[in-house]
Amino acid sequence: METLPTLASPATGPAPADMTESWRARPAAQQPEWPDPVALEAVTRQLAGVPPLVLWGECARLRDRLADVARGDAFLLQGGDCAETFTGVSADAVGNKLTTLLQMSAVLTYAAAMPVVRVGRLAGQYAKPRSRPTETRDGVTLPAYRGDAVNGYAFTPEARVPDPQRLLRVYQSSSNTLNLVRAFMAGGNADLSQVHEWNRDFVAGSPLRGKYERLADHIDHALDFMRATGGRPEDFDSAEFFVSHEGLLLDYESALTRRDAGTGLTYAASGHMLWIGERTRDLDGAHVEYFSTIANPIGVKLGPATTADAALRLVDRLDPDRVPGRLTFITRMGKDRVRDALAPLVEKVTASGAQVAWICDPMHGNTIEAPSGHKTRRFDDVLEEVRGFFDVHNSLGTHPGGIHVELTGDDVTECVGGGHEIGFIDLSARYESTCDPRLNRRQSLDLAFLVAEFLTETARRRRGRG
Ligand code: PEP
Ligand code: CO
Repeated sequence: METLPTLASPATGPAPADMTESWRARPAAQQPEWPDPVALEAVTRQLAGVPPLVLWGECARLRDRLADVARGDAFLLQGGDCAETFTGVSADAVGNKLTTLLQMSAVLTYAAAMPVVRVGRLAGQYAKPRSRPTETRDGVTLPAYRGDAVNGYAFTPEARVPDPQRLLRVYQSSSNTLNLVRAFMAGGNADLSQVHEWNRDFVAGSPLRGKYERLADHIDHALDFMRATGGRPEDFDSAEFFVSHEGLLLDYESALTRRDAGTGLTYAASGHMLWIGERTRDLDGAHVEYFSTIANPIGVKLGPATTADAALRLVDRLDPDRVPGRLTFITRMGKDRVRDALAPLVEKVTASGAQVAWICDPMHGNTIEAPSGHKTRRFDDVLEEVRGFFDVHNSLGTHPGGIHVELTGDDVTECVGGGHEIGFIDLSARYESTCDPRLNRRQSLDLAFLVAEFLTETARRRRGRG
């Protein structure tokens, strides 16, 4: 039997400062102006002494799974809130998100005919980069809300002052969330036949029932086939689930960096996978430097202005040893740009021999303002970017490795469209995001059923080629 590295190497210690503090010599974009450096120092010292949230062995296992994605043998489903909030940590909210992701993953696994690697955008997604440092309402200008990790959402001068004590709450809230994730996954909730029953309920109630029913029937047949040949779908509750967030606040991340005693590797102990955002991926900046010192599987967001040269230099800086699964490019081009902006990147990076995983974030290039002023996204635009992403990869013969989605398991009204058609007029009914608009539970399942069609087509081509 496989040995469990998480149990076999329990000891983690502080990371050597000379390895993890090198970022301090570089310009760090998007960092809050903490008003009291002494208070910040006291907090980071405390964080340096807390237990790690994740162990190295788990991160290594995710890296192996992502190596499968990079090779074209698995598909990544990464999803969760744009910004988690401290008050949003509840058993129901976390359970609903996990249920939604599991339902999506069941559909995608069948369609892709390959394993789906499930990674939450949760248990650490508390800090946000902003396009403007301030926000103005009715002539009043205050510091922008930078996520619960930094300041309060309320539009008052007091709430908007960055408070380092919040970093301790990030650790605590991440820990609480991760505890719920581990309990939920260990509790048999990922049982395939049960998850499929939930999908059956969704299909039965969907206005797009006619479109989805065939796929649901096929999954029924596959489960029956499995049972007929002695398999037990209820045993297929692969409890694997990983967590990820944007590694934005470097004081927090470096305070939570640990050294794994077994391997001697330095890793971010705040989550299994961290990514660098579109606004902080400067090659000479502090984020790229910090990420070059940790061994976790990492992602980098790439927007439509990314040059192939920049992508290649990111590969050299962040994955110099070409470790399979180490580097994932999360592209967020927008539905109108995806075809022309993505193709040259994939082509040149592939030609260089680098093996990265390519994931589509169809959210961040497709944000619009509703007539009501709400930040929103059209479901059809999101789907259109995923379609473009698949088209590019299919035409280049490369692997469309997965999707990265902002979603929630609750019935919010933040994005428009979807099977249960949410209109601009409906947005104010239940708009709860403190940052970007998320797909609600039904829209997320709509997306899974529709992306399944792209995956089925891709799988058919692969068989044709093979
Ligand atoms: C995000 O993922 O919430 C985000 C801010 O994305 P990006 O860095 O791609 O803009
Ligand atoms: Co966002």
